[in-house]
Amino acid sequence: MLNYKNSDPYIEGVSLYELVKVCETPFYVYSQEKIINQVNKTKEILGNNIFYSVKSNSNQAILKLMQSLGIGADVVSSGELKRALKAGFDPKKIIFEGVGKSEQDLLYAIHKNIRLINTEALEEIKLINNLAKEKNKTVDIGVRLNPDIDGETLSKISTGKKTDKFGIDIDNVDKIIELVKACKSLNLVGISCHIGSQISKIEVYKNMFNQMKKIADKFFESGIMIKHIDLGGGFHVKYKDSDPDFNIEMVKQELDNCFAKTKYELSFEPGRYLIAESGIIITSIITIKNNGGIDYLIVDAGMNTLIRPAMYGAHHEILAINSNSEQFIDYTIAGPICESSDMFSKNIRLAKQKIGNLLVIKNSGAYGKVMSSNYNSRPLPSEILIYKDNYAIVYSPEKIEKTIETDNIPSWL
Ligand SMILES: Cc1ncc(COP(=O)(O)O)c(C=O)c1O
Repeated sequence: MLNYKNSDPYIEGVSLYELVKVCETPFYVYSQEKIINQVNKTKEILGNNIFYSVKSNSNQAILKLMQSLGIGADVVSSGELKRALKAGFDPKKIIFEGVGKSEQDLLYAIHKNIRLINTEALEEIKLINNLAKEKNKTVDIGVRLNPDIDGETLSKISTGKKTDKFGIDIDNVDKIIELVKACKSLNLVGISCHIGSQISKIEVYKNMFNQMKKIADKFFESGIMIKHIDLGGGFHVKYKDSDPDFNIEMVKQELDNCFAKTKYELSFEPGRYLIAESGIIITSIITIKNNGGIDYLIVDAGMNTLIRPAMYGAHHEILAINSNSEQFIDYTIAGPICESSDMFSKNIRLAKQKIGNLLVIKNSGAYGKVMSSNYNSRPLPSEILIYKDNYAIVYSPEKIEKTIETDNIPSWL
């Protein structure tokens, strides 16, 4: 994402050194140009029925940008639904799913007349029917199925196996059909699945597409005229140079093979693929030390800024900005949080660093800021959006004093 002018680092036309003057590290930076290119490429290959997975990055500026590019939104809570509506998404381009929606969540979604609510449990179908009846409405629903397909990805981001908590087990398709026929306030208009994230193997997509087509036909033959099949998100992002190559055109090839001349409208819900590579974190080196022969760089970004390495064992490439030294050292890069798992990378070879130097944590646009926390009473990171020669701070955290004020001390203390 960085380019260099006279050896100074830039994001699009904005100098990184300029950003560091206006924003305290650690902070996130996004390139609008890169997001636009990625969304347009995805639309060109997979078509216009793309529903951006809001959970991956829900900043209002990012949502407004996604909306302006003509795609829809996939939300998993009423909070995300409110964010999507505020950013200007047409309710008819919003899908609401999620493994545990409360009655309030469902009522809000019904009230807002969104495209559809994707249900993930037989009990939830009954509840939506009751709520719709009370409100004198007919509600469009989809069912998220669990097709029992191993996404062959990290276990913590795998969601499509029979025993996973997500979706409705495909063995229950007959029960769904029977139930939906009895639910007079519902229209079952689509089926969906999402079997996990970071899925690179084309065979997995092929199995999933075939499985979903078979199930869609079964619904159709039973007299439930579903209109669309939503094939989820999960497209692979190359976080490591050694990661397998992933080509979305191969997914399109399998899609065409499986759904040639289909009667169903096909859609996808990518998050990571649209935004991960368009974001970086800028962090400063706070201190340097050697413990037991390990050369540590302790930086001001931690698991509170980006939790993916600590939570999933995920890898992010790290780049040094100041690398004038001729001497190279294998560094271990860790955050300031009092947890051993607060570690970004072990043994990465960088030019010798000094305190105050800047490092860049790459491919952090998805599941980054949205998962950040105030752990250890540290402020949340800021976010900056770049477009050509312009930048805007699109999120400024509240001061930690303000966060502390939200606690209450009871009268008896
Ligand atoms: C139902 C659903 N759809 C889409 C996504 C987006 O996944 P990804 O960011 O890997 O594309 C997720 C992520 O967890 C999800 O749960």
